[in-house]
Amino acid sequence: MSNTWRAVLDILADGDWVSGPAIGAQLGISRTAVWKHLKQLQEWGVPIEKVKGQGYRIDEGIELLSQPIILKAMSSKSALLLEELELLDHIDSTNTFARQQVERSFAKGYVCMAERQTQGRGRLGRQWVSPFGRNIYLSATWDFDNGVTALEGLSLAVGVAVCGAIQRLGVEDVSLKWPNDILVNGRKVGGILLEMLGDPVGLCQVVVGVGINFAMPKDAEIDQPWADLGHYENLTRNSLAAGILSELLPLLSTYADVGFQYYRRAWEGFDAHRGIKVRLSTPGRVVEGVARGVSDTGAICLEIDGVQRFFSGGEISLRSLE
Ligand code: BTN
Repeated sequence: MSNTWRAVLDILADGDWVSGPAIGAQLGISRTAVWKHLKQLQEWGVPIEKVKGQGYRIDEGIELLSQPIILKAMSSKSALLLEELELLDHIDSTNTFARQQVERSFAKGYVCMAERQTQGRGRLGRQWVSPFGRNIYLSATWDFDNGVTALEGLSLAVGVAVCGAIQRLGVEDVSLKWPNDILVNGRKVGGILLEMLGDPVGLCQVVVGVGINFAMPKDAEIDQPWADLGHYENLTRNSLAAGILSELLPLLSTYADVGFQYYRRAWEGFDAHRGIKVRLSTPGRVVEGVARGVSDTGAICLEIDGVQRFFSGGEISLRSLE
């Protein structure tokens, strides 16, 4: 059987203990084959526990992505804007994959999600930790007429959309760290990576990548305080994916008309650092000042020695000094 690993996973999905021979008997495969699939799943990041005498289990179970569940839970408006939803088991990066779709067909409203990324990418050239079946790795494509100008502030607006979706699903204390880190209780729960293709002054396409930690393994190697959302009541990976798409696709379809100024106040409502002393690091220099919100184009405003100065660009990182 192809995808036997998926059948093994289905048996373990409810979180109950099951013995190796019982898995083998259900699937008509040898114990060695069962063991190989379990080992493979563990290597992909699935937290399978083994206890002598009890067998195997995935503590708290696992929920794989489901197209019918996501489509059913999306708002009708967003469903109309969705051209295609492709669910992938493994991919290097959903952003890279979506980019290839755009290059082939100028896709608009194309969305892909993956169970696992082998080369998930974050901002500033960082790796994005992407174990199997645990989190949300999603990329959506759209096209715009006026190149870079039309996209100004878009990554911040996407942050507003994702925060709104998470909040509507019942999570409190959601905030944004400029430009678009998503925080819950002050810890990073997700991030956004925008990539542009096409003509920088004319017709261009954008790939919007969103990564949200849902059930990150506790021992994940992440070099900053992080959080995940899996323990919130009634929140599932599929409902989270549907919630994000319900906000994101309508935003992409209207952004060229309204621009970031439409989202600015909402962004500032989520701002985790407003009125707080911060340090901005760029490849060339470091500046410190009090964060005073953002401009109509999404630049961050810092008050330095009583003077307000604006900073923008993809290479800047921000740290709180309080
Ligand atoms: C950040 O560094 O904060 C941005 C993280 C963006 C991660 C997402 S996961 C889906 C998409 N595919 C990637 O390789 N990266 C983005």
